Amino acid sequence: MLFGKNFSDHMFLMNYDENKGWHDPRIIPYQTLSLAPSTMVFHYGQELFEGLKAYRTKNGEIQLFRPEKNIERMNNTSRRLCIPEIDPSDALQAIKEIVKTDSDWVPHEADHSLYIRPFIIATDPFIGVKPSSTYLFMIILSPVGSYYPEGINPVKIYVENEYVRAVKGGIGASKAGANYAASLKGQDKAKHLGYTQVLWLDGVERKYIDEVGTMNVFFVIDGVVKTPALEGSILPGVTRDSCIHILKSWGYKVEETRVALQEIIDASRNGKLNEAFGTGTAAVISPIGTLNNGGEEIIINNAEIGPIAKKLYDTITGIQYGEIKDEFGWTL
Ligand code: COI
Repeated sequence: MLFGKNFSDHMFLMNYDENKGWHDPRIIPYQTLSLAPSTMVFHYGQELFEGLKAYRTKNGEIQLFRPEKNIERMNNTSRRLCIPEIDPSDALQAIKEIVKTDSDWVPHEADHSLYIRPFIIATDPFIGVKPSSTYLFMIILSPVGSYYPEGINPVKIYVENEYVRAVKGGIGASKAGANYAASLKGQDKAKHLGYTQVLWLDGVERKYIDEVGTMNVFFVIDGVVKTPALEGSILPGVTRDSCIHILKSWGYKVEETRVALQEIIDASRNGKLNEAFGTGTAAVISPIGTLNNGGEEIIINNAEIGPIAKKLYDTITGIQYGEIKDEFGWTL
């Protein structure tokens, strides 16, 4: 099943205007929108989105995983993009209602789920540059399997030294469509060179690692887990946060810090780079098997999934599908 290609029967909509605030929540059949060509989102990209999933447990029930974290991040993104915030309990109710309406669409197959895509667009028919005064909040649903065709198998990553995804003070920490538009060129270049995704470096010195593809990134060096600190250009991932909690509960030392590319190259040369993997809602854990830096290829853990990445994948998906006791209180 190709990720993100099929959609369920219904969608959720809610409008915003300055007089009524967020109003008129409704669920209607999935259909096309009719918008004036002057609609602001088409011109200046005042848009945000979120991504989470609904999972079917063995006994047929449906669970959400930490939806309040996505709602909190959505409102953080809203503040950065001058979009009015949504009451978190209204947003949660909207997610629950649309999933309930299309509950038959939550897949029964192993490792499949219903991807939930909330998003907000600026809807003023106006092409002056300012925050819109009207918005549309929508939620659509897509049954999905694995994000990468590789599934949980290690992917090949190209270190991007030319283009950058985000800079501090910009919108890298926000889940704005614009960040993904900025990432396409690097992704396209990597694909043409035979790599699945890129390793993004910081936008100022091109020395420190930010993210991998659309995911947060983790390295295991000599038994210590390192992930880039959230200093403004990195998306605060829900899976990232979950991995940090789980790893600490297992007794691992986890450092949220600046991770220099050179440190990774040196660790690899010294035989101390144990594992590298991306984390995200869509793919959960995606091991990095190969890193190409300017023509030099680093092979990590013999291009096989490492024990920490595997155990994290099994634990997170185990909690999500209700197969492992949720000690953290993350499912709903
Ligand atoms: C994720 O969930 O890892 C993503 O950010 C991918 C999504 C944009 C499809």
